[in-house]
This record gives sequence, C-alpha cells and structure tokens, in this order.
Amino acid sequence: MNLSKLESILKGRNSQPHQLIEVLHDVQESYGYIPEGAMREISKTLGVPLIEVYRVASFYTAFTLKPSGKYVITICNGTACHVRGAQLLLDQAVSQLGIKPGEVTDDGMFSIEHVNCLGACALGPIASENESYHHRMTPAKLRKFLNSLSRKEREEVKYA
Ligand code: FES
Repeated sequence: MNLSKLESILKGRNSQPHQLIEVLHDVQESYGYIPEGAMREISKTLGVPLIEVYRVASFYTAFTLKPSGKYVITICNGTACHVRGAQLLLDQAVSQLGIKPGEVTDDGMFSIEHVNCLGACALGPIASENESYHHRMTPAKLRKFLNSLSRKEREEVKYA
C-alpha cells in the first residue's frame, strides 16, 4: 500500500469522525479498495473505533475490501436487465474470464461485479467496464469486448 496517498487523504483530518465516509470514498478512489492498513490509520486519525470504520466500509456497496481488477466488468441483474437476458451475460463473463463475481483474475486484469441496477433500465441489459456503460449487451458482444480488452492489454505490455 502506497502510504503517501493515504497520508495526503488524512492530512488535516485529525479527530474529525464526521469525515469517515468522505475519507473512505477518497481511499476507495485512490486504491481501488479499502485496504485493512488504511482502515487502521483512518481509525487512529479520525478517532473512530476500528470496528466502526470496518462496519461502514463493509456496509456500503460503494466500498470494496478486496482489490479489484484493472477492468471491473459489472453486469446488471436488476429486474429490467434480468428479463432481457442479463444472466446470459454473467454466464459469458464467468466462463470467459474463469472467475466468479467478486473475484479477480490471477493476472489482476479483470474482476466481475454483479449489481441490482445501473440506472439505465430502458437500455438493458447493461454491462459496464469501469465507468463505461454498454447498453443492449449480448453474450456475443460481451465476448468480443472482453477479447478486445485482453488484446489491448497484451499490446500495451508488448510495447511498454
Ligand atoms: S435493471 Fe439494469 S439498469 Fe436498471
């Protein structure tokens, strides 16, 4: 864990327990998850019991306690997306990437998330990759998309 990022997030926030959620958002954004070491530092700095930091960090879906892949593939399985075949998208992602929702591929490139609504029901089924939304997704389009991300990654490694 890069401590300088955490130090900069916590700077000037000594004994300010009301800033817990804001600090957790900043940590999530900087690290991609809430590391255990960060929770300990947040607890000490803000003066919030560690159990409370953990309770808040594990309650809200905006926070994750495990690292995510570079590409977070989110499949919506809300009612509107479900009736339009979201389960087939999830099956495609799981079989193609070889991981289940909440897991990360061994190379750290992909993780799969499963959510109940991404807020674009009329355009479902929806899959997203990090902040980019893909509407009316099909298993075939998802397969091609995941392949293109893998190819892009291999090209970046090749020319790095
Ligand atoms: S149910 Fe999928 S976007 Fe709302």
